[in-house]
Amino acid sequence: MSKSKLNVDVIVDLQYGDCGKGKVAHFLCKTKKYSHVLRYNGGCNAGHTIFHKGVKFITHHIPAGVFFGVRSVIGSGCVVDPDQFFREIKMLNDGGVATKGKIFIARNAHVITDAHKAEDKRSGGAIGTTGRGNGPAYRDKYGRTGVRAEKVEQLKPYLVDLYKEWYPPARSARAGPGEVNILAEGAQGFGLDIDWGDYPFVTSSHCTTAGALLNGLPASAIRDVWGVAKIYETYVGSKKFQPEGDVFNKMGDLGEEFGSTTGRRRQCNWMNMQTLERAIQMNGVTHIVFNKVDVLRAVGQWAVIDNGKVVKFSAGGGSPARGGQGASGGKTEKAMNDFIVNRLKSLGISRNHIFFSESKDKI
Ligand code: IMP
Ligand code: MG
Repeated sequence: MSKSKLNVDVIVDLQYGDCGKGKVAHFLCKTKKYSHVLRYNGGCNAGHTIFHKGVKFITHHIPAGVFFGVRSVIGSGCVVDPDQFFREIKMLNDGGVATKGKIFIARNAHVITDAHKAEDKRSGGAIGTTGRGNGPAYRDKYGRTGVRAEKVEQLKPYLVDLYKEWYPPARSARAGPGEVNILAEGAQGFGLDIDWGDYPFVTSSHCTTAGALLNGLPASAIRDVWGVAKIYETYVGSKKFQPEGDVFNKMGDLGEEFGSTTGRRRQCNWMNMQTLERAIQMNGVTHIVFNKVDVLRAVGQWAVIDNGKVVKFSAGGGSPARGGQGASGGKTEKAMNDFIVNRLKSLGISRNHIFFSESKDKI
């Protein structure tokens, strides 16, 4: 039987989560035609903040596609808390977003139980987890003692078989003639990835492009990979991350850097170029969005960490003046942007695929 053509665009966070994937998902859903939006890893530890028609929504489980009536799937790489799932459906409906027939859960996704949550709240402190039961749920999945979504009666109306979703017979393809177009939306980020993050200060799932493939997708279907970063870094968890200095508190204050899931204050630092480069390469990034440029502009200093040193930018010329201080803001900002763009060029990302975003709801 002939099969439909399958295309996947991936959104992946290049730092420690909270870089604004939700905004990019929202943007892509508006501008491109997708038949599905797939959340591919994580549980309700994630918090996606989305401004839709001027209203702020925070979702933990449900992908951004739902705002546009696109089939929104919680994939097999995810763990699902049924209580949170139903709370979110109610929140969306109350906010005027229709969810009926739009939200699905892979039958083989795993379930976060009350015992998982209780355990995480008790013992997640050393890592600084979100306490949402994520780690214990994945441990039980891999220990082969977990519960799949298909075993939970109340989830039955939402269950799908990803094989049938991704590989329908050509004539019944949902996306128009013979195409399934998926936007795969990651949770958390590269610095929290179970394999590539700073173990053990990581989450328990695969936050990379490879994590998207684990949801029954072949590598050959990957089209664009949208890397999302912040123009400075934030991290929330137990390790010390923020250096001394008022400038970092200012970033936190002006950037409203509080977790959308737990309300904890995020630690701040300059953007680390080597973390970024590694994440770009390992995820196969083709497009990149740097968020919160407006916040750094308000902070009024421009710097990155490169090879372990803080590189501050000053106006005039594209080259950074080590230790120098920015004079006129606009030129200093441009000096830093040029520096970043040149680095990314050497990784094969062209200027028209790089976006410096300065607004909550635009790229
Ligand atoms: P867990 O994922 O709840 O087990 O937490 C492990 C680590 O990942 C902690 O440092 C959390 O703060 C962090 N974390 C988990 N989910 C997110 C997220 O969506 N954004 C940012 N940090 C997260
Ligand atoms: Mg988030």
